[in-house]
Amino acid sequence: MNTIKVGIIGSGRMGRSYLKEMKKSGRWEIVYICDTNPRSRELAKKLAPTAKVIQDEQEIYDDKEVQVVGLFALADSRKEQIEKAINSGKHIISEKPIADTSIREWEAVHITEQSQLFSTVNLYLRNSWYHNFIKKHIKEGEIGELAIIRVCHLTPGLAPGEGHEYEGPSFHDCGMHYVDITRWYAESEFKTCNAQAIRLWDYKDPWFLQCHGTFDNGIVYDITQGHVYGQLSKDQTHNSYIDIIGTKGIARMTHDFKTAVVEIRGVNKTIREERKFGGKNIDVLCDLFADSIETGKRHPMLPQFRDSAIASEFAWNALDNARKNDLPAIGNNQTLVKIRERRSTMKNGYGLLHTVNV
Ligand SMILES: NC(=O)c1ccc[n+]([C@@H]2O[C@H](COP(=O)([O-])OP(=O)(O)OC[C@H]3O[C@@H](n4cnc5c(N)ncnc54)[C@H](O)[C@@H]3O)[C@@H](O)[C@H]2O)c1
Repeated sequence: MNTIKVGIIGSGRMGRSYLKEMKKSGRWEIVYICDTNPRSRELAKKLAPTAKVIQDEQEIYDDKEVQVVGLFALADSRKEQIEKAINSGKHIISEKPIADTSIREWEAVHITEQSQLFSTVNLYLRNSWYHNFIKKHIKEGEIGELAIIRVCHLTPGLAPGEGHEYEGPSFHDCGMHYVDITRWYAESEFKTCNAQAIRLWDYKDPWFLQCHGTFDNGIVYDITQGHVYGQLSKDQTHNSYIDIIGTKGIARMTHDFKTAVVEIRGVNKTIREERKFGGKNIDVLCDLFADSIETGKRHPMLPQFRDSAIASEFAWNALDNARKNDLPAIGNNQTLVKIRERRSTMKNGYGLLHTVNV
């Protein structure tokens, strides 16, 4: 079997995760790693001694042998990279969001949809075993008609001002995954949205947002997301679940980032399924993409740029809506300073942006 030649752009936390999974799978040849930060490049050389580690991404587009580019830098550079990749005939695996504004994201959608080249984006919940397991049982009629989707993801994660500025406030950067998975279950487009948020620690943007509304097909949803969950507690924890209610039964899932537990209380079956959580499912995404390239047929499970643009636009709109709904502020900047200080020395925490130690 021929390996697929790939050039990675952005070798930070996510770029290194792709590198690890691609190396493990044996289906990829990492020809280039590009990063603007010299320390990231130094580390890349150690992690991938056979790859060419570069500063100027143009070398990747110019190399006719490269089949795929991996876009794992930050949102501000993504749209131009997508455009250049398509213009030079490369398939694309992209991190989310696919650009830093909705307008530019829709431009990226149109550029890729007019091309025969494959592109996908890491909306990783779509590739999780637990959501696919639940959806299969919903399709089999176990919960009757799907009526209500409730999603909650609260962690002491990425703190305001710590990084990822182009990715937006917490409800956009992280929350767009939960927006997307809600739409994936509903199989319909969002119709209404009412959002409530709060600004904690006197930060300019809300770091907690809760919204609810309807889909075109009448399904009702509520989504709660925040990286405000006990940032300074001695022993940190989180609360992450999905709760799906049908006309006859329910399905739900919770996880501790190590193990995910699904429960189905269906009309025919009562199931409790416990399996490894699976992290960001990058192995699944890369395998689906490699299958697509090898067969010449885009795998139907691959998330599309359009899905990402819709989720991102919804998240930006929810943040705008929340600003019109009072948007109170509680807490002060001293607490935020303490949170950032604590996170900067944490070795094992939620969503830490790892400093590069070469
Ligand atoms: N899908 C997910 O669940 C998920 C999770 C975390 C992060 N992300 C996304 O992945 C992206 C990267 O996040 P991260 O946590 O790895 O960030 P990071 O800051 O750890 O890494 C970004 C890297 O890109 C490099 N870089 C920046 N601009 C560049 C450019 N123009 N060309 C080349 N290199 C450049 C930086 O030097 C850095 O090494 C973000 O857009 C984020 O939204 C997605």
